[in-house]
Amino acid sequence: MDKTEVKEKIEKLRRDIEYHNYRYYVLDSPVISDSEYDSMMRELQGLEERYPEFLTPNSPTQRVGAKPLEEFATVTHTIPMLSLANAMSEEEVIEFDKRVKKLLGITEVDYVIEVKIDGLAVELVYINGEFVLGSTRGDGFTGEDITQNLKTIKSIPMRLLQTNDIAIPERLEVRGEVYMGRKEFEELNKKREITGEPIFANPRNAASGSVRQLDPKITASRKLNIFCYAMGQITGMELKTHMEFLDCLKKWGFRVNPYTRLCHNLDEVFEHYNYIKSIRDEIPYEIDGTVIKVNRLDYQATLGQVSRSPRWAIAYKFEAHEEESIIKDIIVGVGRTGALTPVAILEPVNIGGVVVERATLHNEDEIKRKDIMIGDHVIVTRAGDVIPEIVRVITEKRTGLETPFFMPEKCPVCGEPVVRPEGEAIRRCVNINCPAQIKGRIIHFASKRAMDIEGLGEKLVDQLVDKGIIKDVSDLYYLTKDELANLERMAEKSAQNIINAINDSKKRPFNRFIYALGIRHVGEHISGLLAEHYKSIEELMAAKEEELMNLAEIGPEVASSIVFFFHDEKNKRTIERIIKAGVKIEYSKEGNRPLEGMVFVFTGALKSMSRDEAKKKVESLGGKTSNSVGKKVDFVVAGEEAGSKLDKAKQMGIKIIDEKEFLRMIEEA
Ligand code: IVH
Repeated sequence: MDKTEVKEKIEKLRRDIEYHNYRYYVLDSPVISDSEYDSMMRELQGLEERYPEFLTPNSPTQRVGAKPLEEFATVTHTIPMLSLANAMSEEEVIEFDKRVKKLLGITEVDYVIEVKIDGLAVELVYINGEFVLGSTRGDGFTGEDITQNLKTIKSIPMRLLQTNDIAIPERLEVRGEVYMGRKEFEELNKKREITGEPIFANPRNAASGSVRQLDPKITASRKLNIFCYAMGQITGMELKTHMEFLDCLKKWGFRVNPYTRLCHNLDEVFEHYNYIKSIRDEIPYEIDGTVIKVNRLDYQATLGQVSRSPRWAIAYKFEAHEEESIIKDIIVGVGRTGALTPVAILEPVNIGGVVVERATLHNEDEIKRKDIMIGDHVIVTRAGDVIPEIVRVITEKRTGLETPFFMPEKCPVCGEPVVRPEGEAIRRCVNINCPAQIKGRIIHFASKRAMDIEGLGEKLVDQLVDKGIIKDVSDLYYLTKDELANLERMAEKSAQNIINAINDSKKRPFNRFIYALGIRHVGEHISGLLAEHYKSIEELMAAKEEELMNLAEIGPEVASSIVFFFHDEKNKRTIERIIKAGVKIEYSKEGNRPLEGMVFVFTGALKSMSRDEAKKKVESLGGKTSNSVGKKVDFVVAGEEAGSKLDKAKQMGIKIIDEKEFLRMIEEA
C-alpha cells in the first residue's frame, strides 16, 4: 500500500467503526458481532501505530488515553445556557400556555414534550462535523472544558455521521444531559462500598462527579450516557422547528430521547405527561418530570427569555418524593431583611437520594395552619426537588408529649423586640444594626450575581461583623489587609486575595449595583429595568413613586419600597461612602456589555477597520483582547492572510470566526 492508500484505508476503517459504534451505543441495535468490531479496531490501531502522521484526535482509538489535567479550562458559551421555570400542576401549565398564546397573539401552538432527565447539562461543539469542545453548563455563561471526559462517552459522536439528505453545519453547538443509569449507579455504589470509598447520594451526583474528573480514565470507567435536546449556535443552516432539529440530531448520530412527542394542544400534552409518569419507574434512568417546548423556532425567538429562563419552555415536574420524619426541634433564623423564619430540625431522612435534616416552616401562620408541634411525626417532601418542606403532620402518631411552638417576641440574634406589621405573616427584627441582618446584607452584596466579591463567604463575614470590623457594606471598601490578616485562619496571601477581589468589584455594571443594595422587592430583573431607565444612581435616588410606577412591570409596592430605601439617611450615607471609596458604577446596563468575560485574538488584516479599532470595539462592549492564543481565548478573528495564530487556534479547538461573523457579533450586541 502506498501512503494515499493507507490514508484511505484508515479513513474507511474510521467511518465504519463510527457507524457501528452508533449502531451499538446510540441505536442499541448492532449489526456486527463484538469480535468483528474488535478486529476492525485492532486493524485501525495497527495502522495508526505504523503511520502516526495519520493519527487524529477524534479517531475512535483516541476516546480514552488523554493525560490527566491539572485543572479545567474555562469555556464561555456562545449563547448562555438557560435554566427552566417550573410548573408543578396542570393549572400552571395552562397559565404557561395562555401566556405563550397571548404574547404570540395566536390561538394554536404546537408543543414538543420531552422527559426531563436528571443529570447534568453539557454543551458539545462541532466544527465542520468534528467534535472540538465539550463543556459543563457552569453558571450558564461559562462552564468547564471537559472535552477529554466527554470523549469517553461512546454515544457522543466524535464526527457527525454523513447522510445524503442533510448537510453538516460549519459550527454546531448541541446541548444535552449526561446521566448515569439506575443500574450503573447501583453497581458503582456497590463497588465503592467494597473499596471503602464514599457512595454517591443519587445518579445525578454520580454523573456530575464522574464528568468532573481531572483524569479521563476515571470518567471512562463510569458508564455514562447522554441524551441531546437543545441547540446553541448553528451556522450555515436554516431550521424551522424543534422537531426538525431533533430529527437532524438523530441523523447526525446523536442520541435523542425516544419519549419525545409533538402535541397539537394541551390535552395531548397532559396525556403524554401522564403516560410518562405511569412508566417512570420502568425507565432505566431517573427523570424528574417533563419539559414542554414551543415547537416553532421563530415563535421561540419572539417569546425570548425573562431573567434566565426562556419564555418558550417550561419544566412540568412530577410531584416530589415524600418521606416520613420527626421534628426534633424548631429554631428561628434571621435573614437580611430581618425576617424571622422558623426552621424544623428533622430526624435525618433520605428523600429520593438526598439526606434532609432541616425544612423551612416559612412563618407562624404556616405552622398554625399545618398544626405543627415539636416532636411530631411528619411527611417531608423536597418540593421541586430542592427545598425540603413539611407536607403534613401524621396526627395519628401523636402521643401527647408533643410541645407547641411559639415565635419569639425578641430577635434571637440581637435580643431587640420584633414586630409583625398588620396584614403580614412575617415577624421582623427592625433593628437594622442586628448582626444577622448586617451579615445577610453583606453576603448578598458580595454574592456572585451582585458585586461578585470572590472569597467573601459566610464564615469570613461572621468574623468581620462579630469583631465589629464591618458594620455595613460600605465598610468593605475601607478594609485593610492587616485587619483581614489578623483574623483566625487567614493567611497573608488570602487576605491579599480578598482585598484584590474587593477592589475588582469597584467596577460593576449599574444593574448589579442596584441589585446588590438589597432593596426589598427589587430582584435582578427589576434592577435591570431600573438601570436601563435611570442614567445614574443620583437620578435613581431622586426618583418619585409616580415616576417609578410609569415603568412597565413596577407596581406601587415596588415603587414605594425603592423610594423608602433611598430616603433613609443611613442608606444614603452608605451609598455616599461606597462612591467615595472609589467604586465606579458602570452606567450602562449589563446588557450593553455583551462581550463581558470573552477574550478575542485578532490575526490577519481586517477589511472594515484596523486591528486597533477592532480591539477598542471589543473593549467598549466589555470584552478583552489578547495578542496570543491560549486557553483563556474564546474567539480568534481571522482576517486576510491570517498567520500562525490561526493554526494554533485550530489545534486548540478555539472558535475561529471571520470578519463577517465578528461584525455580526458586535452589531447584534
Ligand atoms: S431544555 C432553555 N430539555 O433541565 C432550555 N433541559 O432547568 C434549556 N434538562 O439545565 C434546557 N432534560 O440540565 C431541556 N429535555 C430537556 C431536559 C433538560 C433535563 C435539564 C437541563 C437544564 C435544566 C433546566
